[in-house]
Amino acid sequence: MRVTMIGAGYVGLVSGACFADFGHTVTCVDTHEGKIAALKRGEIPIFEPGLDDLVASNVKAERLFFTTSLAEGVADAEAVFIAVGTPSRRGDGHADLSYVHQAARDIASAITGYTVIVTKSTVPVGTGDEVERIIRETRPDAEFSVVSNPEFLREGAAIIDFKRPDRIVVGTDEERAKEVMTNLYRPLFLNQSPLLFTSRRTAELIKYAANAFLATKITFINEISDLCEKVGGNVQDVARGIGLDNRIGSKFLHAGPGYGGSCFPKDTLALIKTAQDYDAPIRIVETVVSVNDQRKRAMARKVIAALGGSVRGKTVGVLGLTFKPNTDDMRDAPSIAIITALQDAGAIIRAHDPEGVEQAKLVLGNVDYVDSPYQAADGADALVIVTEWDAFRALDLKRIQSMMAQPVVVDLRNIYRPEEMAALGFQYSSVGRGLSDA
Ligand SMILES: NC(=O)c1ccc[n+]([C@@H]2O[C@H](COP(=O)([O-])OP(=O)(O)OC[C@H]3O[C@@H](n4cnc5c(N)ncnc54)[C@H](O)[C@@H]3O)[C@@H](O)[C@H]2O)c1
Repeated sequence: MRVTMIGAGYVGLVSGACFADFGHTVTCVDTHEGKIAALKRGEIPIFEPGLDDLVASNVKAERLFFTTSLAEGVADAEAVFIAVGTPSRRGDGHADLSYVHQAARDIASAITGYTVIVTKSTVPVGTGDEVERIIRETRPDAEFSVVSNPEFLREGAAIIDFKRPDRIVVGTDEERAKEVMTNLYRPLFLNQSPLLFTSRRTAELIKYAANAFLATKITFINEISDLCEKVGGNVQDVARGIGLDNRIGSKFLHAGPGYGGSCFPKDTLALIKTAQDYDAPIRIVETVVSVNDQRKRAMARKVIAALGGSVRGKTVGVLGLTFKPNTDDMRDAPSIAIITALQDAGAIIRAHDPEGVEQAKLVLGNVDYVDSPYQAADGADALVIVTEWDAFRALDLKRIQSMMAQPVVVDLRNIYRPEEMAALGFQYSSVGRGLSDA
């Protein structure tokens, strides 16, 4: 099949490369000229494990193409995916749909023959209706269907998630569109991934409900971890104790510095706004958002407390800047709020991240970026683990201990064991665990 991706970002590029790998012919279109030029040179503009090889092999097989010309990419396509960004709109938290609407206008003038236009971007309920209206207005003669097909991949494991999804959600009532979507995803449900057909509005809502539920689960265990600290419990044992219950499940029960990233913060906000507009407020998600916002700065206070109440003039080494490991994505990363709060309190920040430094430099000023965890620890008064990259899980702790000005470690991801750290002479604190519970 001939497929076009509008937007060659984290979702568009991964989905495009995976569809090409299944044998479809895919053109990725992006308005960002630098991105397309890089892709044409064989350079991948984002860090996503395995993506470079997947793109290279499909380009070589002449199944994957890149262009800035939407008209060229869309002509003759059977399915055109909209995978552009839907960030929070400045000021009110609604999803900013300007990129989606622009893409719809551009697609409308370029389609030839029956085309399925698929919204893969995360969009509020009713956006499919609006995309359909825009296309119909621009091209009253065109033959097309507008389908919702939300994406559930996780950055860092995006290729595996795309190729082996828990489910594929397709929102449409039109038989002709269902047939195209079924053919497109056939290689996936042959691998037994369920293909779930729903109405378009329901599919749009499923994506927001899924992200809001996961954000709630994380926030729930984060609050339990605060209680553990007060009562002397161990949040990892609580998580295991509840997670083994199949009705609860063990995933997304890792206490930490609060959720961030390119999806949960903006999607929870957008869902809250939609729900308020329809006079059906989702108070549990409103609370989750406010608890999570406060948590990030509270993590900075944890560091300040570990240094005896003041960080003024002290050097704090930070390990990990991206919102999670195995990505270079800094969007809404907890590190931003934590570092800013520490800087507000007078700390000097020295930071290391295996892949995120280039993106971090765009959002965090006045930080000394260093090339290794050991450089971050050298002479530091405290070392804070913010993102749990594998490279931080087996550090030479004796070496780190001997390099630091004060052996203070604040582990916001619970990757080390309190007793071991104490035995090595660290003044160690983590999230929701006391020393006696190690
Ligand atoms: N990143 C994730 O993990 C993830 C997961 C699931 C769903 N989503 C959703 O997918 C959508 C895209 O997210 P992303 O992380 O890939 O964003 P991104 O910012 O990485 O990529 C979006 C791309 O679209 C391009 N673009 C914007 N307008 C365009 C236009 N009119 N024509 C062509 N290209 C255009 C931009 O230049 C950019 O390269 C969002 O709605 C997001 O919520 C993201």
